[in-house]
Order: sequence, then C-alpha cells, then structure tokens
Amino acid sequence: MLLRRVTLHQLKIFTSLARHLNMTRAAEELHMTPAALSIQIKQLSGTVGAPLHEQIGKRLYLTDAGRLVYEAAVDVFGRLEQLSGELSADRGLERGSLKLSIITTAKYFAPHFLGAFCKLHPGIQATLEVANRDQLLERLKQNLDDLYIMGQTPEHVSVIAQPFMENPLILLAPADHPLASQSAIEPAQLADEPFIMREPGSGTRLAAERFFEQHDVRLKIRMTLGSNEAIKQAVAGGLGLAVLSKHTLTLDAASGAFAVLDVQGFPLRRQWYVIYPSTKHISSVARAFLHYITEEGASRSQQPVSEVIGREAV
Ligand code: PGA
Repeated sequence: MLLRRVTLHQLKIFTSLARHLNMTRAAEELHMTPAALSIQIKQLSGTVGAPLHEQIGKRLYLTDAGRLVYEAAVDVFGRLEQLSGELSADRGLERGSLKLSIITTAKYFAPHFLGAFCKLHPGIQATLEVANRDQLLERLKQNLDDLYIMGQTPEHVSVIAQPFMENPLILLAPADHPLASQSAIEPAQLADEPFIMREPGSGTRLAAERFFEQHDVRLKIRMTLGSNEAIKQAVAGGLGLAVLSKHTLTLDAASGAFAVLDVQGFPLRRQWYVIYPSTKHISSVARAFLHYITEEGASRSQQPVSEVIGREAV
C-alpha cells in the first residue's frame, strides 16, 4: 500500500463524498462531473487497497476502510487549517492591528509602551483610547478593544488580568507645606487637611478612601476633580493634599512644585493590569503586546508583580 501516493485532491473529494454519501451532490459541491469524481475515488481506493464505499439498494455507505480514510482526511485538513492560522498569526505581527483602551492615569506611561512596541513592529496599526473607568467597563462589555489597562480588575465581568507593573500611590502636597519636612506622619495627622480627590469611580480614589477608612480617618474633601493634571495644579496652588499615582509625576519630577509626604502606610501598593475578557481569543498582536508590556513593566517595578487573575494569560 503506497499511501504516499494519496493526494490532497483525492482526500478532499473523498471527504465530500463521505459527508454527502451521494455522488451527484458531492460532484456538485466540487464543481466536477460525477464521472470525474468516481475516477478519483477509484484511484484513492486502489492506493488504499480496499473499497472505501459500497452501495446497498439506493444508498451509499462507507466501508470500515472508508471511515478510517475519512477520519485521517479530517485530521489532515484540520492540521493544515491550524498551520494556516499559525502562519497568518506570524504575518499578523508585520501587518496586524492593536486596539488598546486605557484608564485615565495610564496615559502617563501606556503611550510610551505602545510607541516602543510599534517601533519594534512598524507594520502594526495601533489605536489608543483613554477613558474613565465606567467607559472602559462598557467598552470591555461590548468587546470593542483587544486589551485594556486598568489599576483595578473589574468585579462583575469575567476577565484575564495580567499584572505588569507597580502603581504606587503617593500623598502629594505643595512643596512649602508644613508636613513636607516631617517623617513617618501618622494618617490621623491628616484629618484636618483639605483634600482634593479624583471623581467617584476612580481607582485612585477608591484606594485612598479604603486606606483612610481602615485608619479611621474621615477626610475633609475640599474639591473633586476628574483629572490628575487639574489635581496637581490645585495641589501646587495650595488648595489641598491629594493621593495620586506616582506615574502622574513622571513629567514634572523636576518641577519642585510638590512634596511627597512621608505618611505611614504610603506609598499605597497597587498594580497595573492588562485585561481582556476571559472568553476572548486574543490576536497574535495583542498577545505579543501583552508579553512585551509584562516584560517591560516588570523591569520598571521594584517588587515582583503578583499572580495573574483568572486563568493563565500568556
Ligand atoms: P483611575 O484608575 O485613573 O480611575 O484612578 C487608575 C487606577 O485604578 O489606579
């Protein structure tokens, strides 16, 4: 039996016959004449060394050999399909696209990561959406993007969440604030200070609220602002103190307008997560970006990032 002589063309014809169990319909599907189809099946049967089908009354049946050949043909075509997916996945890194949605505070670093990734893969078309938490959760529900960056995993959506970088929250004061020169400030000492808070729903705000609740400190909120930049301006202008991600200072580290207070328990340790719905088949580009950001983020963090939430992501 010289099975190596079997051609893909013959297997394709045979799988069609096996599915339809009808010569005319199989021939129609393949745009060939029943006679031509019959010749190919005979040749295949000759190579295999056994009849592949039999006719009883008006009906056509597969023989045992026919069933085995059919199963093998399904395997062969399945493997070829998989190979084609793998090959186009590789090409995807040259020509694919990446849709990334990030939470407000992530705009201080995510464009940098994305820019560096796109330099490595110049054929990739990337889009970046900056949104608040509610909008991001809505986008996630509607499956609008490949990946999301957040500082807090969503509670009511099943996601894979890969932590990739520390997100320390610091307590910011104007540079000339009396507490700026003190060390190991007790949280209770802040009870009389006016605070400028992010909007409700902000991850930063939530973390700050939790911390002060745990320390039985009721904050005096002077102002609520939905923008880190606006909060920094307000702090610099002496309107109050604020809890913000350290990343928000990336660009003004040298400005001298702020002091980072040495409060016990601070910086609050949080992490950035890259997230996608747990049932999503992420593209090869998204997977490559996830891998890239995880490695880059870890190299910028002083502490090891914690475990993946959900099943394993990469
Ligand atoms: P925020 O989110 O910009 O909404 O505060 C960031 C975070 O969750 O840390």
